[in-house]
Amino acid sequence: MCRAICEAAGLNEADGPLNVWDYEVLAEATLDEATLGYFAGGAADEHTLRDNRAAFDRWRLVPRVLVDVSSVQTETTVLGKEVAMPILVSPVAYQRMAHPEGELAVARASASAETIMCLSTFATASPAQVAEAAPEGRRWFQLYWHPDRGVTKGIIDQARDAGFEAVVLTLDLPVLGRRERDLRAGFTLKPEYRLELYASRPGNPSAVTPASAAQLVDPRLTWRDLDWLREAAGIPVIVKGILSPEDAALACNHGCAAVVVSNHGGRQLDRAIASLDALPGVVEAVDGRAEVLMDGGIRRGSEVAIALALGARAVLIGRPVIWALAARGADGVQHVLELLRDELALALALLGCPDPASVDRSRVTRP
Ligand code: FNR
Ligand code: LAC
Repeated sequence: MCRAICEAAGLNEADGPLNVWDYEVLAEATLDEATLGYFAGGAADEHTLRDNRAAFDRWRLVPRVLVDVSSVQTETTVLGKEVAMPILVSPVAYQRMAHPEGELAVARASASAETIMCLSTFATASPAQVAEAAPEGRRWFQLYWHPDRGVTKGIIDQARDAGFEAVVLTLDLPVLGRRERDLRAGFTLKPEYRLELYASRPGNPSAVTPASAAQLVDPRLTWRDLDWLREAAGIPVIVKGILSPEDAALACNHGCAAVVVSNHGGRQLDRAIASLDALPGVVEAVDGRAEVLMDGGIRRGSEVAIALALGARAVLIGRPVIWALAARGADGVQHVLELLRDELALALALLGCPDPASVDRSRVTRP
């Protein structure tokens, strides 16, 4: 299958895919227009989508020399436990639309690459199915908070019972951003797939579009509700979609174990600040009280190094995983994770940093 896709994409199969960009080209040749638009697109004029990438151009790495880099390692810890690399998998909805094995393939690949997969509430596989597909893998559960607290509690219980280690509460989608690619192309879930956490509930919408899924998110939440969530979850709570230092400080005051600096891959508020630009202010406000993670626009190991230098403990990647999933299923996802890990290892060696912890603020500068 890969050969046909490579040919259609004008890539020589023997040579590629060599990097995340090659996987994007392969995915473009694989997915239909509406599905591609859903996964690739951002909100409105897509300024923030582009700025997530452009923000990396505002920094340059500063290597040091004559450091022994004969045994560079990429391992680190996140929430106190080991991962093979400071690169985790962002929650992305509707993954069976990219490949029939969807979230199950991503779970297997993340486990093989020894990193953490974050499963979306709007997944096309249930927490239990994901756990069964990769029992040995580390997994976090991304929560969209349903307006009915009993429903929310039931969802969290399913995730915790399936061995999910943390709840990642997404805060930047109280309502859906305006995705004009979806409006034009009419993206909908194929009838053979469903949002597993909701499909079996009587009277629940099948949520075949992002707009109908967004109806399952409570827009009334405030900081007070976080205290209930921490009690109800019984596992660490991480908040995702933080861009303001003030919010980062509030998250720490409310006992969050980590914050994810994110603008939802440019899909929510267009003209929102790029994730990388928001990172230093959040790191300063958190001041070591929680771990700081970030996502948005990471496509190269050297970009992971920039995020580490600006204070991220680890990064997450969204679309690169989807491109690889669409092109080559679980093998593709594992390959993309290992490519990024190897690119990071090379960047660390050339930076004169034997491990992720050595990449401090002195390793980046504004050009
Ligand atoms: C997302 N994202 C997302 N976030 C979340 O908390 N729950 C979700 O269900 C989804 N769904 C989703 C679908 C698609 C198609 C995309 C592209 C993104 C946001 C995601 O977790 C992450 O923040 C961004 O994707 C990171 O940016 P990059 O790596 O895609 O540039
Ligand atoms: C997205 C959702 C559902 O499409 O988070 O971005």
